[in-house]
Amino acid sequence: MKIIELNSVSKTYNSGSARALDNVSLKIGRGERVVILGPSGCGKTTILRLVAGFIAPDSGSISVGGKLVAKNGRVIVPPEKRHLGMVFQDLALWPHLTVKGNIEFGLKARGIAKAERVIRIRDILDLVGMADYSRRKPAELSGGQQQRVALARALVLEPGVLLMDEPLSSLDLELNVRLRKEILRLQEKFSFTLLYVTHDRNEAFDIATRIVIMDKGSVIDEKRNFAPDR
Ligand SMILES: Nc1ncnc2c1ncn2[C@@H]1O[C@H](COP(=O)(O)OP(=O)(O)O)[C@@H](O)[C@H]1O
Ligand SMILES: [Mg+2]
Repeated sequence: MKIIELNSVSKTYNSGSARALDNVSLKIGRGERVVILGPSGCGKTTILRLVAGFIAPDSGSISVGGKLVAKNGRVIVPPEKRHLGMVFQDLALWPHLTVKGNIEFGLKARGIAKAERVIRIRDILDLVGMADYSRRKPAELSGGQQQRVALARALVLEPGVLLMDEPLSSLDLELNVRLRKEILRLQEKFSFTLLYVTHDRNEAFDIATRIVIMDKGSVIDEKRNFAPDR
């Protein structure tokens, strides 16, 4: 069974405009690290929004974890029931909550008891190197630190699948390269399936086990990647 499947998916946002996705099929196995690589506007974010469940495909179908979640214009399983971790540019940290509060939010929503929340928050902050910052608000953190917190917030829920939309593109190169290695380390530890979007070739080759190359709403090539250095 594939953990994520898109079958002949097409999507147009406004009638009359070009298709954002044109008949895209993509199958992802458990534990793969798939990077979608392509220029701005080629449809990368649209794929993630469809997998997440924020939008429905006009035609075609999507399965997550072997379950049909959307088909022919209809969302069948809503985002919160898909159990996906997400690090999206437009899903920013909540500015009024501390680092701890941001991470705790999802744990509370799942009814996890206070004692366990405390342990899980401490462990995940250690893991992303942010243990000393738990009382800060997002505005008091650098871009890279905010990204680590966003990662922690997603990972603390132990998702089987993590969706990441250009998570490092706002960072300077040094930090970008460092966080690539951290994402690999975290993936090795938690063995989630990773679906990662970028326009940066180097990032793609550092992170992926498989690279899916897109242009103008279509998949134009796929390459297996050698195991990147950790
Ligand atoms: N909410 C939206 N409304 C209208 N058009 C959109 C919307 N989101 C994306 N598009 C269009 O769909 C196409 C694919 O966009 P997107 O998936 O965001 O590409 P990428 O993430 O690769 O930059 C682009 O032409 C973009 O302008
Ligand atoms: Mg995008």
